[in-house]
Amino acid sequence: MKRKKLIKINEYKNIKQDDSINKKNKKFHKQSLKYAIILLCICGFIFCLYKLFIKKVPSIRSIPFVPSLALKEKIYFDKYEVEKFNEIKNKLKQECVDMFKNQKEFLNGLIRKFKPKKIVEVGARFGGSAIVMLNAIDDFKDSKLYSIDLDSSEHVGECLRKYFPNFLKKWTLFKGKIACEYIEQIGGDIDMAFIDTIHTEPGEILDFLMVLPFLKENAVVVFHDIAIQITGWLEKSAPYIIFNGIRGEKFLPSGDDVLKQDIGAAILDSNQKKYYQEYFRLLGGQWYYFPKEEHINQMRNFFKKYYEKDCKECLIIFEEAIAFNREYVKKNPKPKRYSFTSD
Ligand SMILES: C[S@@+](CC[C@H](N)C(=O)[O-])C[C@H]1O[C@@H](n2cnc3c(N)ncnc32)[C@H](O)[C@@H]1O
Repeated sequence: MKRKKLIKINEYKNIKQDDSINKKNKKFHKQSLKYAIILLCICGFIFCLYKLFIKKVPSIRSIPFVPSLALKEKIYFDKYEVEKFNEIKNKLKQECVDMFKNQKEFLNGLIRKFKPKKIVEVGARFGGSAIVMLNAIDDFKDSKLYSIDLDSSEHVGECLRKYFPNFLKKWTLFKGKIACEYIEQIGGDIDMAFIDTIHTEPGEILDFLMVLPFLKENAVVVFHDIAIQITGWLEKSAPYIIFNGIRGEKFLPSGDDVLKQDIGAAILDSNQKKYYQEYFRLLGGQWYYFPKEEHINQMRNFFKKYYEKDCKECLIIFEEAIAFNREYVKKNPKPKRYSFTSD
């Protein structure tokens, strides 16, 4: 009897203990929930603060230089009518063209959007970029591409002739001389220019100046290799300088590496004459090659003819830049390619 009573008492004690454990557990859960809710509220509060204040600090995307987005329609040019570029994607051999896929798509998208009638290319090499452009205009009835290349060899445009002979009817090639020697023949009202030549300063700055008087108002100008200097080729900053220096609405392909995007386009602002002096001043940096005297003379005559009336100072700046750099280039060899790796 006594044993039975003892067992009952023990059972009662156990039940009591279980109850208190349950109560403790419940209390613990209640408290955890309370803390979780408080934590959630704090996070929510911080998020609201961030949205209200921190987000309002201007980011690189809110300055007028809007990478990847274009116009009010928010077009990503590297995605725009990309199916047109895809028609030739596999046939266009990598050894024919110097551009990455998204750069070719960007060029294609710009042309599909703006439907230029007259395009001028300065720097054609094997014709890779010309193939992209000719493909993009092949269903635009009156559009044509004029390419200029300083190289007079038979290699210029050879990929185009070999692999895309169907594009030749819309293409005219001028080779062996600099742009100002051909641009009068090509004539005015140019809707789009694609400039991709030597990259070494003053390269593309001069090429742009040789095309500018023949561009239509609000023409689209595209430069390749606008970021090549940050890969360590310090002297190859001509496209970077002129792309950032010209006045217009600028566009880059989509992607976050804003400073590393290696192709860029600008829709020129109206009345470019206002900016002539600024553009010539871009020649005042250090040059890393000196153009042939023959080319200097041709450019001098061209600049006199097309700039002197609106900008007397432009010719003075040009002569000063020549005088300084003629000596500078002699004394200073090209910088070695700088390696950005950590070795
Ligand atoms: C980088 S390649 C062009 C590549 C081509 N745009 C492509 O993506 O397929 C540069 C070309 O510019 C030419 N070039 C260099 N300086 C030039 C100049 N001042 N005027 C015209 N062409 C030039 C070179 O002969 C070379 O063929």
